[in-house]
Amino acid sequence: MSETRETRCACERALDNCSVEEAYARWAPIYDLLFATLLRPGRRAAASVASSADGLILDIGVGTGLELPMFEDHTRVFGADLSEPMLRRAAGRVARQRLAHVVGLGRMDATRLAFPDAAFACVVAPYMLTVVAQPQATLDELARVVRPGGEIVLVNHVSAQDSPLTAVESWIGRRVATKLGWRPKFPWAVIGDWIDARVDMLLIERRLLPPLGLFTLTRIERIRGASLPRGGALLAGETVYDEAIEQAAV
Ligand SMILES: C[S@@+](CC[C@H](N)C(=O)[O-])C[C@H]1O[C@@H](n2cnc3c(N)ncnc32)[C@H](O)[C@@H]1O
Repeated sequence: MSETRETRCACERALDNCSVEEAYARWAPIYDLLFATLLRPGRRAAASVASSADGLILDIGVGTGLELPMFEDHTRVFGADLSEPMLRRAAGRVARQRLAHVVGLGRMDATRLAFPDAAFACVVAPYMLTVVAQPQATLDELARVVRPGGEIVLVNHVSAQDSPLTAVESWIGRRVATKLGWRPKFPWAVIGDWIDARVDMLLIERRLLPPLGLFTLTRIERIRGASLPRGGALLAGETVYDEAIEQAAV
């Protein structure tokens, strides 16, 4: 097994949905206090890219909904998350701030979304991929629900190669990843290898973000006309989207 693959497998074993849910039940009451400002640049960048999408946007791993006010008014955004306590805070924010562009919130696992193929013009995942139990299965599922010509926009920490910090990240990850609810160490190969293995996906931007270039914005386009890996049928049309949203909404 290659070093990259070993790293990736170890990375994927470190978390499971139970530990993630337990961790975010603990984070929920203090999440905004700790992370509203620190992670704001990535949220703004993701919302800005997504706001130019022509159609419905999925915000997966929406958490307490800190990015929801950052989407432009003309957008239509559905927010989904595994954690009920995080989602409850998102729902409170939507009500308090009267975010009319948020068309629904739903509890869902990112690897098993309750939407038909190609339901979204854009999927954003701010600070989410390092948190999910199965990053590559998650990417497969995000690819399924984004329509050809649409984009997946990721924002997350990517470990620098050959940096002393990577050893520290590994050490922290081995000890407390499940308690923290995220992986401090996250190699680019998790995303890069996935894109390389997909004929229908194209990396269109990879940009470092503040603070201190600690986070990376990654834009991946689902190529029009590329054949689907699993031969799934494409469904399109507002009716399909609206029905899916009604079924999924909490
Ligand atoms: C670090 S928070 C990011 C929240 C928000 N996007 C932000 O920018 O503040 C990560 C979120 O991903 C959610 N999450 C983790 N695993 C998930 C999964 N398998 N499916 C859906 N959401 C998941 C967590 O519950 C948590 O709310």
